[in-house]
Amino acid sequence: MSSRGFNSTFGGLPTTIFELMSQLAARHGSINLGQGFPDNELEGPASMKEAAYQSMLHDSNQYPPMVGVPELRQALAEHSERYTGLPLDWQSQVLITSGATEALAAAFLGLLEPGDEVVVFAPLYDSYIPIIRRAGAVPVVVQLRAPDWSFDAAELATAFNAKTKLIVVNTPHNPSGKVFSRAELETIASLVQEHDAYAALDEVYEHLVYPGYEHVSLRTLPGMAERSIRIGSAGKTFSFTAWKVGWVTGPAPMVQAAAKAHQFLTFTVPAALQRAVARGLREERSFYEGLGPMFLKKREWLAAKLTAIGFKVLPGQGTYFLTTDFSGLLPENSTEEDVEFCSRLTTEGGITLIPVSAFYEDRTTAPKRLVRFVICKTDAKLQAAVEKLEAYFSKRS
Ligand SMILES: Cc1ncc(COP(=O)(O)O)c(C=O)c1O
Repeated sequence: MSSRGFNSTFGGLPTTIFELMSQLAARHGSINLGQGFPDNELEGPASMKEAAYQSMLHDSNQYPPMVGVPELRQALAEHSERYTGLPLDWQSQVLITSGATEALAAAFLGLLEPGDEVVVFAPLYDSYIPIIRRAGAVPVVVQLRAPDWSFDAAELATAFNAKTKLIVVNTPHNPSGKVFSRAELETIASLVQEHDAYAALDEVYEHLVYPGYEHVSLRTLPGMAERSIRIGSAGKTFSFTAWKVGWVTGPAPMVQAAAKAHQFLTFTVPAALQRAVARGLREERSFYEGLGPMFLKKREWLAAKLTAIGFKVLPGQGTYFLTTDFSGLLPENSTEEDVEFCSRLTTEGGITLIPVSAFYEDRTTAPKRLVRFVICKTDAKLQAAVEKLEAYFSKRS
């Protein structure tokens, strides 16, 4: 083999903590509330599985259009109008991708030039920074601060300069469950416009907002429709994370720029799955409109149990994640941090969680004692997890 090395952006990355924790969970037979995927019992409607099957049997199984099948692009234009009030031309303003992961990659590769700066909030979804770097651009990180995950407007303002091309806003937010307020989005919108920049909106959890809160898309704010793309995922909207059907919607020039990258990343997405998602968006509204109320019930139940055990539950307004501070469960002089805590809990307590520091590229800026629970699990599994935690922490006290 040649002695020459490979790409350093990707080659330098460690195996993700999600993978490591899931492997540890499997080795110790622990209940995995770490990796964010719904239990089979909570999967999307059977009618969509049937639609995918029927489409495979009766429709063409050859390359679908590069930008996506017309029925899904039309369904997404209707969906945008219904939930954000923003009309879309389905022919030029919608691109179907292989999940939101590819949507993000296509957007970053298609929109960014070497030397551009991209403002991102930490904690953040782990794919952003490597792809931004691979596009030759420079990520500029602004902190969201626990417990309410707010940002400092002055810190955000200093992150912007003449080189800023893009800001990435993930709301509802993984891992915190924060839903950005209209006022926060207004602050972001005015900076984007002042610096003649763009926004990439990771809104994969748009339907996972708890009753009483509102998902506001930055794209709906004055002056932002022509500067923002929205990214969504059938994996989240229908709890079908294996299907990997995602999308980019927004102004035609931005969507076309992402499409230019998409054509050489995956080119297209399985047609039968696209058709089934189109059907789901139109006919299974009750499924995705029910996600917020269902997850709020699970969250409230689990939060009460965790509080009784000694965790401090942080506020959240959406998603199927719940973050907690475990400081109260440690002996007074303990120096234990989140990664060690999660390993110990997996091997000794039989429960696997994710350390929140995993969502920071620069671990030195991360909170040290926060862990993320995934709540898109059956009530029985959450109950079993709570029983394990109660048994483990009562033994130790
Ligand atoms: C914030 C965020 N963005 C994007 C994705 C990727 O979504 P997909 O599975 O559709 O690629 C995820 C998945 O966990 C996510 O949490």
